[in-house]
Amino acid sequence: MNVHESEKIAGLLSSNGYTKVSNMQMADIIVFNTCCIRDTAEKKILSKIGELKALKRKNKNLIIAIVGCMTQQEGKATSILNTYNYIDIILGSNNHLDLVKHINELSKKKKIVQIESLDNNNIIEDFPIYRESKYKAFVNITYGCNNFCTYCIVPYVRGPEISRNPQKIIEEITGLLSNGIKEITLLGQNVNSYKFEDIDFNKLLIMIDNINVVKEFWIRFMTSHPKDLDENIITTIANSKHICNNIHLPLQSGSNKILNLMNRKYNREQYLNIIKIIRDKIPHCGITTDIMVGFPYETEEDFLDTLDIIEKAQFMNAFTFIYSQRKGTPASEMPQIAPEIKKERIMKLIKKQNIIAKNISNEYVNNTYTAFVESYDHKNKILIARLQDGKQVNIKNNDISLLGCFVKIKIKNAGISALLGEVI
Ligand code: 5AD
Ligand code: SF4
Repeated sequence: MNVHESEKIAGLLSSNGYTKVSNMQMADIIVFNTCCIRDTAEKKILSKIGELKALKRKNKNLIIAIVGCMTQQEGKATSILNTYNYIDIILGSNNHLDLVKHINELSKKKKIVQIESLDNNNIIEDFPIYRESKYKAFVNITYGCNNFCTYCIVPYVRGPEISRNPQKIIEEITGLLSNGIKEITLLGQNVNSYKFEDIDFNKLLIMIDNINVVKEFWIRFMTSHPKDLDENIITTIANSKHICNNIHLPLQSGSNKILNLMNRKYNREQYLNIIKIIRDKIPHCGITTDIMVGFPYETEEDFLDTLDIIEKAQFMNAFTFIYSQRKGTPASEMPQIAPEIKKERIMKLIKKQNIIAKNISNEYVNNTYTAFVESYDHKNKILIARLQDGKQVNIKNNDISLLGCFVKIKIKNAGISALLGEVI
């Protein structure tokens, strides 16, 4: 999501005559797009901002802007300005469109801070976007989140969920496909709860699947929420022409007690039931997830429930996190788990998930698939491709004319998260 937001900021600057440079030393303007979902992300950004002081000392005309959701935490803009007094502009994640206006006004003003929440009236359409890839693209369908999981800061910094007008979504996708994009990922904190008048996520998927400007394209979406991913959506994916058999379905924990404390609104039995429906209806679906350890009150028994459910669910890939205390969220007021216990648990979780993922990877070896070649890794001289189920395949081949193409490949070898394949 943040990558796509950076594409919008870059699009705005390039449509106003700015060009991208290859390193920060050469820049006249540096824009930092921030994230505050975990403390580690925030610390990393703050240390990067600290490094800019020397650059500003060398180049007094350098403009530094900090944008994105980190700035929307209560009191954060003031504390950033107090600590890093060489910052010129601070904008919330809904104020990107004003960046150029503020840059132009800096000669008159010393510092500019603009942090506003998003509502239906200021949802920004027809935004210039500088897309990193010529072959695949992200398209927002919702902004914000209404779920208030007790650990999560997103609803506070991003505001309530807003769904984009489906006509605008279809127009954007049609335009992208007409310009050669072959793979589109629909984005939202909880895409399944998309609702614009009488169009829900299921209807939106059907509308997108029926776009017929080009013959071959793939659609992915993230993130789904287990409480909202219903059977209709799963059936639509199964019957579709273009929607990939790939679902990212954050689990967070395998313990009913912890899921309840997290306010996730499902239990482990319901989660496993959705997995069963997916596996029954969508053959070879690549299911990935997010899992957290060390949430307040998590006992060894709760953690064992998480280890148990990942065995049952058989995730193709899992993003694993240590719970991070976020100020202002209900969980930050709960008794916290010791850091050593959290570390021990995450190591055990990763170890177990790696075994599961490697076993799943092995099943691909010697089989043939259609893969979409999405990028070229210059350093390692490999093409990076993806199967419809989301599995990454590295191809030792420097034929960049294959970029943006669907190719037939045979899998030769398996790693934990990526496969090694050959074009056939
Ligand atoms: N601590 C750790 N992980 C978090 N996530 C969200 N908030 C936190 C937090 N406070 C994780 C969740 C979510 C993913 C995007 O980030 O697993 O699904
Ligand atoms: Fe955060 Fe929960 Fe919303 Fe995801 S669904 S963004 S974890 S509050």
